[in-house]
Amino acid sequence: MAEKRITIAIDGHSSTGKSTMAKALAKRIGYAYVDTGAMYRAVTLFALRNGLIKRGKVDEKALKEHLKHGDIVITFRPTKEGKSVTVLNGKNVERYIRSMRVSNVVSIIAAIGFVRRAMVKQQQAMGKDKGVVMDGRDIGTVVFPDAEMKVFATASAEVRAQRRFDELRAKGDTTTTFEEVLANVTERDLIDSTRKESPLRQAEDAVVLDNSHMTLEEQDEWLYQLYQERVK
Ligand code: DC
Repeated sequence: MAEKRITIAIDGHSSTGKSTMAKALAKRIGYAYVDTGAMYRAVTLFALRNGLIKRGKVDEKALKEHLKHGDIVITFRPTKEGKSVTVLNGKNVERYIRSMRVSNVVSIIAAIGFVRRAMVKQQQAMGKDKGVVMDGRDIGTVVFPDAEMKVFATASAEVRAQRRFDELRAKGDTTTTFEEVLANVTERDLIDSTRKESPLRQAEDAVVLDNSHMTLEEQDEWLYQLYQERVK
């Protein structure tokens, strides 16, 4: 009998490696992968490029109009190497959405109700046929509350900051300090978990994965075992 196809929601704190684990699992089991953080980052990039964020304040009225008129189209495109890149209005923006410029203000954009509603709608459409691994903050609580498999990923703030710091260095950012990254991680935790609209919280039926002291292989195996249990 063919295995049943399920919905897999991976939520948790920032820089817990959610995308890495979600991507690896999706590849292993032949599911589609959706990085919802990239969608909020793409909206943020659009807002920055169009001068809609000034001194940490968002021109919500203008942003709402742009969303309403379909000026912000976000898709994912597979690459020849088997990766997936984020596309904003037809252009690959993967590099830009991971910059500190975007990281510093993305939480503000992700806290806006109408932005969230627009993204959630698109995410639900992307996952309507199941067979999807989606990572974010509200996948198991808001986007797919009926997901058959829910994971809540966490790790200490220091471990997470170190990971993001290494990532930035590997990408050639030689100016951002570890302290700055740690401050950004801590601040985002606070904004993400205290915002009014869909705050980050663990779904009651989610399984916690603390990967502070886990290797990638251990983590991948842990997820695969959970998946196997859920499709039984
Ligand atoms: O996972 P990430 O760091 O790329 O997410 C970027 C931001 O978007 C982060 O501040 C949390 C927010 N986010 C969210 O509010 N809901 C999601 N489903 C995914 C991300």
